[in-house]
Amino acid sequence: MSSAKFVYEGKEIDLPVITGSMGEVGVDISKLRSSTGAITMDLGYGNTGSCQSEIAFIDGEKGVLLYRGYPIEEMVGASFLDISYMLIYGQLPSQDQLTKFRKDLDRHQLIPENMKKILEGYPNTAHPMAILSSMVSSLSAYHPDTPEEVENNIVRLMAKLPTICAFSYKQSVGQPHIYPRSDLTFAGNFLHMMFATPCEPYQVDPVLEEALNMLLILHADHEQNCSTSTVRMVGSSGANLFASIAAGVCALWGPLHGGANQEVIEMLEMIQDDGANYQKYVDMAKDKKSGFRLFGFGHRVYKNFDPRARILKVQADKVLERLGINDPLLEIAQALEEVALKDSYFVERSLYPNVDFYSGIIYRAMGIPTNMFTVMFALGRLPGWIAQWRELHNESSKRICRPRQIYTGEPKRAFVPLDQR
Ligand code: SDX
Repeated sequence: MSSAKFVYEGKEIDLPVITGSMGEVGVDISKLRSSTGAITMDLGYGNTGSCQSEIAFIDGEKGVLLYRGYPIEEMVGASFLDISYMLIYGQLPSQDQLTKFRKDLDRHQLIPENMKKILEGYPNTAHPMAILSSMVSSLSAYHPDTPEEVENNIVRLMAKLPTICAFSYKQSVGQPHIYPRSDLTFAGNFLHMMFATPCEPYQVDPVLEEALNMLLILHADHEQNCSTSTVRMVGSSGANLFASIAAGVCALWGPLHGGANQEVIEMLEMIQDDGANYQKYVDMAKDKKSGFRLFGFGHRVYKNFDPRARILKVQADKVLERLGINDPLLEIAQALEEVALKDSYFVERSLYPNVDFYSGIIYRAMGIPTNMFTVMFALGRLPGWIAQWRELHNESSKRICRPRQIYTGEPKRAFVPLDQR
């Protein structure tokens, strides 16, 4: 094993170097503090590996994304359940394994009836991500967190999340909940629960079903992003699956992460209302004082096109054309991308469109409301969160995640009782 030298105040230690299966190199600093008294600092963890994982691989410079070694571009035609099984259990399923997985999910896709009372307690104006995080956490009240139930709870969560997401949407529009069906695909079943009503038959549109299946696959995993790292952090304390995933839902909600897909559409609408003056918003994004960012642009890891954005840019055009929809926001997005990618500010910082830049255009075409976009991201990301939690849970050498800090507060001083202040 190769090593790296760390020299500090006359102390010199060799730190082991780990090399990943795709050639990534990591310096193992596990012994740094005990050998030198020093810790490292890395705001935002941009240079810090939190784990070794076999699930997803990203080459940010080349714009490469692999799920268990398979290139994202080659999976878009598969079924979301096929990809979910592969992410969670490590291998592409045989037909029998996939059939059994689907049957297992079918058996668990209803939520306990009295969980609907939790939903009904929310105002119709509640953000669906607030509902989602609490409903996921509440599943732990119905399904015990015992070692023998871990694998069953994984199936329960995969099966119930679409139902919870669709029920929260129906709650927000004041419509009756539409129960899941076992004769539809994962994507078709979700569209049915979202848009069917008891008053008339609902036919799943194959164009929407195919587009949703593709969107779910593209969002399924992305190595140690903010929400996945949160799932692992919470899981490292021994917290159960539902609690860990609920924490991931909350992390995803942020506008810099999964909440960006909602922000992108609101930004494009703002640009549209402002006479499609893209240059004004590109200039604002470059002006730090404006506090404005181009949502859907930039990425901590990709310093090239996000491969998912490449796929979505093509698919957005296709889906709208097949649906006969002319969404002016697509033209604004395409024009904004063209202007930004010619601007040295964006080129110098390697700021390219990310997965959130075009996804909202397709969700809109499906009739999904903007405040449900991040819920759609969570629905896609669920198998990745589960796979990462399960990988951590099954590790024999797992430790609780507990970073250190550098204290910059007051030096030690005597406490002053209230009557002497
Ligand atoms: C997702 O991690 C993942 O894998 C996430 C994700 C996944 O699948 O899980 O890919 C999903 O969250 C995608 C990202 C969605 N977020 C957005 O679109 C929000 C807008 N983008 C950013 O705020 C930003 O680019 C981040 C949050 C995505 C990345 O932030 P970093 O890595 O901390 O980069 P930074 O903020 O330090 O920016 C570096 C420079 C800064 O300028 P300088 O200080 O060098 O002058 O680039 C600038 C930033 O001001 N910059 C932007 C910008 N993004 C970065 N300037 C204008 N507009 C932007 N969007």
